Amino acid sequence: MGGEPNRWEDVYQSKAEAETSWFEDRPQVSLDLIAVTGATSDAAIVDVGAGASRLVDCLLEEGFRTITVLDLSETALAKARARLPKDAPVEWVVANVLDWQPSMPFDVWHDRAAFHFLTDFADQETYLRVMDRALVPGGHAIIGTFAPDGPDKCSGLPVTRFDATLLTERLGPDYRLIRSLMHDHHTPWGSVQRFHFGLFKKN
Ligand SMILES: C[S@@+](CC[C@H](N)C(=O)[O-])C[C@H]1O[C@@H](n2cnc3c(N)ncnc32)[C@H](O)[C@@H]1O
Repeated sequence: MGGEPNRWEDVYQSKAEAETSWFEDRPQVSLDLIAVTGATSDAAIVDVGAGASRLVDCLLEEGFRTITVLDLSETALAKARARLPKDAPVEWVVANVLDWQPSMPFDVWHDRAAFHFLTDFADQETYLRVMDRALVPGGHAIIGTFAPDGPDKCSGLPVTRFDATLLTERLGPDYRLIRSLMHDHHTPWGSVQRFHFGLFKKN
């Protein structure tokens, strides 16, 4: 289930942003894929398992005004929130995505390195049901996970690794793969982690 909430709280309480392996100064791959969706500034975007990611900062800079940022860790969200103006148009949600009941429909669902913590098939199914309920018809899902030749653990937790074929199969026939790419993420200490990103369009 992506680990207990306290585990992630511990991570974010004990480490600075740039001490986490997944830190990115600028989440360029995510931004590029969001651009491919054609989303305009009135699109509703949710970043699931966002942690303290700077994606929200960049989306605000790009003019998006309907942004939801969700994570298990309150501390992670507080770190992101502290960087932004108090009146930034962001809904902050401390929740397990598996239990989340979105309060509005979304045009874009973004997840970098949260879905891959779901190693139980049943949890993956629950996640995908939540995602499907959240997304409008014709909406887009961007899911970044470790690739088959990427690490098999992150933050001490096992992960499920995907490539385009595995992820497409997992999302099922209601989602069409629009773009797939492999990305070498360089951790703050210089090691390389191979990610796969899939961009899907919902029927
Ligand atoms: C490896 S970090 C990636 C953070 C962020 N997406 C980024 O790219 O910087 C994984 C994040 O997923 C969150 N997470 C893991 N399982 C989750 C779940 N079931 N529901 C919500 N968030 C979850 C963790 O709290 C953590 O912040």
